[in-house]
Amino acid sequence: MTTPLPLVIGNWKMNMLASQACDMARSLVDRLSEVEGVEVVIAPPFTSLYPVGQIINCSRLRLAGQHFYFASQGAYTGEVSLEMLRDVGCDVALIGHSERRSLFGEDDAAINKKVHRAIQMGITAVVCVGETLEQRKAGATLNIIETQLSKGLAGLSSERLSKLAIAYEPVWAIGTGVTATVDQAESAQDHLRKWLANRYNSEVSESVRILYGGSVKGANASELMRQPNVDGALVGGASLETESFVPIVEAAVELTSQKS
Ligand code: 13P
Repeated sequence: MTTPLPLVIGNWKMNMLASQACDMARSLVDRLSEVEGVEVVIAPPFTSLYPVGQIINCSRLRLAGQHFYFASQGAYTGEVSLEMLRDVGCDVALIGHSERRSLFGEDDAAINKKVHRAIQMGITAVVCVGETLEQRKAGATLNIIETQLSKGLAGLSSERLSKLAIAYEPVWAIGTGVTATVDQAESAQDHLRKWLANRYNSEVSESVRILYGGSVKGANASELMRQPNVDGALVGGASLETESFVPIVEAAVELTSQKS
């Protein structure tokens, strides 16, 4: 079975007006149109998805939604469905980001419904897990992330997981400038991989990409992604400028070329 390419996702969070997002998208298309050996995804805010989707349409860049509601349509003021995301060009969706969990009360049950919905619609679901600093200090990291993953994937059979990716994002590393050490990232992600192998099988565990997120930048991307169980990066702050995002993508490309 072929090893999947590394996956680098830029999560723009609630940043950039539509005109700025379009400028950024043009700049990324310009810099990354030829890039091979990596999959690059950008997740702009909802208001920019359509125009950004038009700009990246003919490039290798893919578009992701940062959030969606699991119903298809109806009286859900303020929400956006997966059909709507797909309509504007998304084929990837982030699910269960720690900011959604902590600021907007998204719980494991809602996350599980969303994962089912994404997989049913053939959208790549990027399920985010991660522990808080208190949980890490209490030695609960592996237990917490395993529980989040097992609840998030509840009821999914192995044949439905071909479009799944997982992002390990320690909450204490997000937007803080404090990156997990390579050992911390690798040990958490190795644990998630083993959990996948036990819960499903080795084919699933090897095909699902496990990304690291939390203060990833050009300077640390390579050493993180060099770890056997770090298959890419979910990037926040450093994805907001071409000059800081492109080196992360290039680090992934470099590692792919070394492996092949
Ligand atoms: P930072 O890269 O800004 O730490 O954010 C990580 C993140 O939350 C990506 O989803």
